[in-house]
Amino acid sequence: MSGKKVVVLGGTGFVGSRVVSALLARGAAVVSISRRGAAGPGPSAATGNLLRVAGDAGRPDGWSSHLVGASGLVSCVGAFASTQQAMRDACGTANVEAIRAARAAGVPRLAFVSAHDFGPPVSAALSGYYAGKRDVEAEMGVGRDGSGGEAGSNPSSAARGLVLRPGMIYGASTRAGVGRQGRAPGSSLARSGRGVC
Ligand SMILES: NC(=O)c1ccc[n+]([C@@H]2O[C@H](COP(=O)([O-])OP(=O)(O)OC[C@H]3O[C@@H](n4cnc5c(N)ncnc54)[C@H](OP(=O)(O)O)[C@@H]3O)[C@@H](O)[C@H]2O)c1
Repeated sequence: MSGKKVVVLGGTGFVGSRVVSALLARGAAVVSISRRGAAGPGPSAATGNLLRVAGDAGRPDGWSSHLVGASGLVSCVGAFASTQQAMRDACGTANVEAIRAARAAGVPRLAFVSAHDFGPPVSAALSGYYAGKRDVEAEMGVGRDGSGGEAGSNPSSAARGLVLRPGMIYGASTRAGVGRQGRAPGSSLARSGRGVC
């Protein structure tokens, strides 16, 4: 990945900071976008070729200049919230806007961290969270069952996409009061009909 630029949305988070570190270790130039930017947790801006930018995924006008010349976009943005609509917006709408901006900028590879659906009662309690995830998957051309892109809303897009549906991810967290250890079964992976990153 040496010399390639990759934009990571949510690069200061639990998952995103690992993605950033892995990309840096492979020689990529990384732009991390999060609302708190350099003020948030995660890898230091002094670590390798990393630029930390403050921006909202759902408002790409504020950060889309960083998509120019990027080889890929990885979105690690998603959140629980107090209402189902807020979760759908946080997990879905923001990422859909970001993916559309990446396509418009000609970014050739897109990756999205979705989530495994554990079914009821979890899926009912978090219906907005999962609805948002499926909104993004549809935007990337992945069917509800994880099948390839024909059912997606952008079958003509030349961008190649990868959707990851992890179960619970465990590890040390920088967020106060949140710790994750071990790894739960039940993750799945879906790829769009146009290939993988
Ligand atoms: N952790 C798990 O066990 C697990 C399991 C399955 C799937 N996932 C998925 O993996 C993804 C990452 O989860 P995580 O545990 O790493 O969450 P996290 O630690 O809360 O990280 C979320 C990251 O996204 C940023 N962010 C949130 N909303 C944003 C927005 N509108 N614009 C720009 N940046 C935004 C946050 O920074 P700011 O707050 O500064 O913006 C932070 O960097 C999520 O989509 C989640 O659904 C996680």
